Amino acid sequence: MLQKLYDKYVCPHLINYAMQMKPFRKQREKVIPSASGRVLEIGIGSGLNFNYYNKENVSEVFAVEPDEILLEKAKQNAKINNINLNVQQIKAEELPFDNNSFDTIISTYTMCSIPGLSSAMSEINRVLKLNGKFLFSEHGKSPDINIFKWQKRINAIQKRIAGGCHLDVDIPNEITKANFKLNKIDSMYVPGPKFLSYHYWGVASPLK
Ligand SMILES: C[S@@+](CC[C@H](N)C(=O)[O-])C[C@H]1O[C@@H](n2cnc3c(N)ncnc32)[C@H](O)[C@@H]1O
Repeated sequence: MLQKLYDKYVCPHLINYAMQMKPFRKQREKVIPSASGRVLEIGIGSGLNFNYYNKENVSEVFAVEPDEILLEKAKQNAKINNINLNVQQIKAEELPFDNNSFDTIISTYTMCSIPGLSSAMSEINRVLKLNGKFLFSEHGKSPDINIFKWQKRINAIQKRIAGGCHLDVDIPNEITKANFKLNKIDSMYVPGPKFLSYHYWGVASPLK
């Protein structure tokens, strides 16, 4: 009961606050400007990527976001940024879009929170065009065995306080497993607690 109230009324505001921190802003700056054409954001949250769009290259922006409060914030941020956002309150495990219908799909800090990540990744593959770009910036599994052990230990608490977020997702593996080719990937610790700050970012394209 308390967990449900926390998830519904507290967690979305914490996510909106935390995701605006400097290390995340710096990562968005590295990834988002290359979005182009018809764009879909997966778990858009409060719409914090809009600032980094190269608007002249983007024709349409779609998004999915299960959380009502974050979705409303995303709509407000879209207005502020003059973006005509088409957002639906649904999950990424089943996307209501045609095959090969997007030029760019963006996931920033969402892969850690999707319960059915494999299904979501195959949906992303399905709706992305053959030459399309999957742009991602995610925190995930640390390459340091001791940090990785801590990630596993802390996961249960993290899931409860951070909207289902897992600390130890093997991001490159989840992407390639879903039949994507990694065209570019970088990784490093960004400033912050090590269990939370190992980042992976880059571009992948679907192998159909
Ligand atoms: C840490 S937030 C990141 C939000 C946003 N992408 C950003 O960069 O600020 C994780 C997001 O994943 C969303 N999410 C959780 N489960 C999801 C699912 N099954 N499908 C799509 N999004 C989901 C959450 O509602 C939340 O907005």
